Amino acid sequence: MTKVKIKYLLEEHSKHKVGTSITVHGWVRTLRDQKKFAFIELNDGSSLASIQIIADSDLENFAEIVEKVATGAALSVTGELVKSPGKGQNIEIKASKIKIVGLCDSSYPLQKKRHSFEFLRSIAHLRPRTNSLGAVSRIRNALFMSSHKFFQDRDFLSVQTPIITASDCEGAGEMFRITTLKEGEKGSSKDFFGKPAFLTVSGQLNAEAYALSFSDIYTFGPTFRAENSNTTRHLAEFWMLEPEMAFADLKDTYKLAEDYLQYVLSELLKNHHKDLSLFNQFISKGLIDKLEHVAKNPFEVLEYTEAVSILEKAKKQFEYPVKWGIDLQSEHERYITEEHLKKPAIVINYPKDIKAFYMRNNDDGKTCAAMDVLCPGIGEIMGGAQREERHNILVEKIKAMNLDPKEYQWYLDLRRYGGTPHAGFGLGFERLIQYATGMENIRDVIPFPRAPKQIDF
Ligand code: 4AD
Ligand code: MG
Repeated sequence: MTKVKIKYLLEEHSKHKVGTSITVHGWVRTLRDQKKFAFIELNDGSSLASIQIIADSDLENFAEIVEKVATGAALSVTGELVKSPGKGQNIEIKASKIKIVGLCDSSYPLQKKRHSFEFLRSIAHLRPRTNSLGAVSRIRNALFMSSHKFFQDRDFLSVQTPIITASDCEGAGEMFRITTLKEGEKGSSKDFFGKPAFLTVSGQLNAEAYALSFSDIYTFGPTFRAENSNTTRHLAEFWMLEPEMAFADLKDTYKLAEDYLQYVLSELLKNHHKDLSLFNQFISKGLIDKLEHVAKNPFEVLEYTEAVSILEKAKKQFEYPVKWGIDLQSEHERYITEEHLKKPAIVINYPKDIKAFYMRNNDDGKTCAAMDVLCPGIGEIMGGAQREERHNILVEKIKAMNLDPKEYQWYLDLRRYGGTPHAGFGLGFERLIQYATGMENIRDVIPFPRAPKQIDF
């Protein structure tokens, strides 16, 4: 018997025709016992919609089914595809055989009513069975695949940079230390690597080495930050997509960022309309229009200095006062994109003193070739820069941030041996998913969130 994913049965022009026999596997969303027959809604995660199964009382295990099968149970169903008289679906399955694969008792927490996202977080192992987390997971998958496609189609080499590192890429001291030293044991020379080791905050430094061999590369993997930020936009473990290009400057990198975002959002709109509709209807009204607009229209490019003057002129009391030289806070970023521009913005050329050591100094002596992509509702979703390729200036910048140039020897070598201008950015993948779905909390767009005091599951 052909085993079929439910989404293929529900497609408008399904190749599976009425009258044919198929087998589906899935989990029961609801079972209604009508005495002579029962209706079962079965979902296998392949689509938002479930398929309706009709279990007739002449099935040999009918009594067992209506007695034992409840919401959450796993079934394997074989039957004939029949036209559905009900509205909302074209097709249903008239079961000839229902195998109970896994029973589910009444303590199953996902009974029919809607649950708060907060509650669902406490059952992270079961929440992918809900409509909302199911849709988030499919959208995450789609964005993951189209991200690879975007870069592969443009001949960017996919590089797997290490997760364990000895250097702090962002120089912000927000790294998780890893060690095999036992409690009370001292001295990092006795430690596994013979020196302090950490989980990486970004693959960028290693990515640069590969860009300076292949020109265009990207790394896409988990990154870790021990910042104690209990917000709806921060995770301790998140995924970052980092392209890096040699023979490229700041403008090349923000053009790439815009092309990338427009591409992945267009693909999502084309192929995942049903899942997006759920968010459009229940989570973020107007989401689809917003995404369509963003996918089609150029982003606004804004100098940091211009951004500051917009904020200074704003008739709004900010918690963090604005003046040239400050790092933009989330409230500032949101004002610019949500109230002033009403669309995403690319802010470039930030003060060098608030940005990472590797960003290229501009000739004005005050700014560096940084860029942040800011989106309404989220704030920063990408951060990038043209990298400082001048050896002596880079050494000075490393020292100025109280970092040890000796630790960055290999990174400095890249400036001595065939160095070129190069540039890249990092996209916070979960922030992209938040933007694409309108989901309020970043902890609901990653399967098992890690955040301060949150590591169950
Ligand atoms: O701006 P960030 O810190 O940039 C870098 O790490 C560069 N090395 C990237 C590069 O140029 N290759 O981080 C990049 C993005 C941010 O714009 C944000 O979207 C996301 O990563 N991000 C986080 N996402 C979730 N939780 C956190 N704690 C995050 N910190 C940063
Ligand atoms: Mg940043």
